[in-house]
Amino acid sequence: MERIVLPQIENLNQIEVYLANGGFESAKKAFAKTPDEIIDEVKKSGLRGRGGAAFSAGLKWSFMPKTTDKPKYLCVNGDESEPGSFKDRQIFEDNPFQLIEGAIITCYAIGAKVAYLYIRGEYHKWIKLMQKAVDETYSRRFLGDKMKETFGIDFSCDLFIHKGAGAYICGEESSLMNSIEGLRGYPRVKPPFPAQRGLWNCPTTINNVETITNVPAIIKNGWECFSKIGAPKHPGTILFGISGHVNKPGVYELPSGVLLTDLIYNVAGGVPGNKKIKCVIPGGSSMPPLRGDQLEGVRMDAESLKEVGSAIGTGGVMVMDEDTNLLKVLIRIAHFYHHESCGQCTPCREGTGWMEKILHRIDEGHGTSADLDLLISVANNIEGNTICALGEAAAWPVKFMITRFRDEFEKYVNKNISIPVPNKVHSMRGTAVPLAEIQK
Ligand SMILES: Cc1cc2nc3c(=O)[nH]c(=O)nc-3n(C[C@H](O)[C@H](O)[C@H](O)COP(=O)(O)O)c2cc1C
Ligand code: SF4
Repeated sequence: MERIVLPQIENLNQIEVYLANGGFESAKKAFAKTPDEIIDEVKKSGLRGRGGAAFSAGLKWSFMPKTTDKPKYLCVNGDESEPGSFKDRQIFEDNPFQLIEGAIITCYAIGAKVAYLYIRGEYHKWIKLMQKAVDETYSRRFLGDKMKETFGIDFSCDLFIHKGAGAYICGEESSLMNSIEGLRGYPRVKPPFPAQRGLWNCPTTINNVETITNVPAIIKNGWECFSKIGAPKHPGTILFGISGHVNKPGVYELPSGVLLTDLIYNVAGGVPGNKKIKCVIPGGSSMPPLRGDQLEGVRMDAESLKEVGSAIGTGGVMVMDEDTNLLKVLIRIAHFYHHESCGQCTPCREGTGWMEKILHRIDEGHGTSADLDLLISVANNIEGNTICALGEAAAWPVKFMITRFRDEFEKYVNKNISIPVPNKVHSMRGTAVPLAEIQK
């Protein structure tokens, strides 16, 4: 299979090598078309966002207003802070110019004159690498005012790198914009969506690094070619970052729709000691986990994972063998989302801390079976009741881990404790605990 995002070309991160392999030819090709033609081509290619929600990239671009007096912006999201996700940094390291070229083409398509590449603050090495690549692109006159002469067109754009300061929430698109504006990384209430009111209240498009890196390949080879790769409803390749109990963890570019078992056993070398798999989280820590006995036949694309009650997320696959203590895993995950909650919404601010506290109680030997129901109830009351999707990101692992591995979690609770009055969440929303039982 030909790789699109991370081609097997040595030293592709050097501009001479990138140019020798057709670098910036896609931009040239794009400039010969109208912006609407580019949007249409990307729409038809079926490219879906690689940052978590798998939304159609071309459709998102088409939301940008055609006639406006305001400047328009592109934000490229390289915050990559979800536990289990480590694929964008591979692009920064191995194929930075294709990302830059993708950003240039996207700016042209949406009519933006400025793009911001937001990179998580801890990625010192990759920030430096990307800055070097951006500087070289300017010196070769593919960015900035001089690109008008290089390409012989009446369009130019600039690209700036913006360093994050280590907050997971700044990966959420609206708090990313606040962060760029120098404000606290608080998510904004939507609508209005970024295409209506984004950076500095101007129309803005936000896409993930991997999404944007696909764009030059779509322009170069045409939308039909891209749309034929992998799963028809989620075409292209996906960078799978596989970690945990596998012999060869790493980032692998494969067609979407690859069998999860192929990814684990053939690509990532299987499980050390040939142990059985207990649990797999298929798309970064916030996605619903799958049981080991659920994996057969599961394909790695948005639609197939939806069918088995999970989601593709960022393609960060975490494998846990039969000896894994899922209570410890869940405590670690719950701690992360509690720590990263920005605190604006009560259900997220209070619920994430509450869930972590209950999990610790269970770990210390003071938890009951009712605590498991309580955890599901708290998670249900976070989900859908918050400003941003960090609420769901915190609720899903707890809710689905306990529901799908109830047998294991029942082993962790203390059967000798019985608390007469159940401490349940008071809510009119449907929870795992029947209301009649709560009212007893
Ligand atoms: C709490 C939170 C953190 C997120 N972090 C990232 C991130 O690090 N990178 C990313 O691309 N998208 C992240 N997203 C998704 C973005 O909000 C947005 O949907 C995405 O950047 C859009 O790009 P795409 O359509 O190309 O996937 C996050 C969302 C939430 C709710
Ligand atoms: S859901 Fe959590 S992280 Fe998102 S805005 Fe509300 S409190 Fe902040």
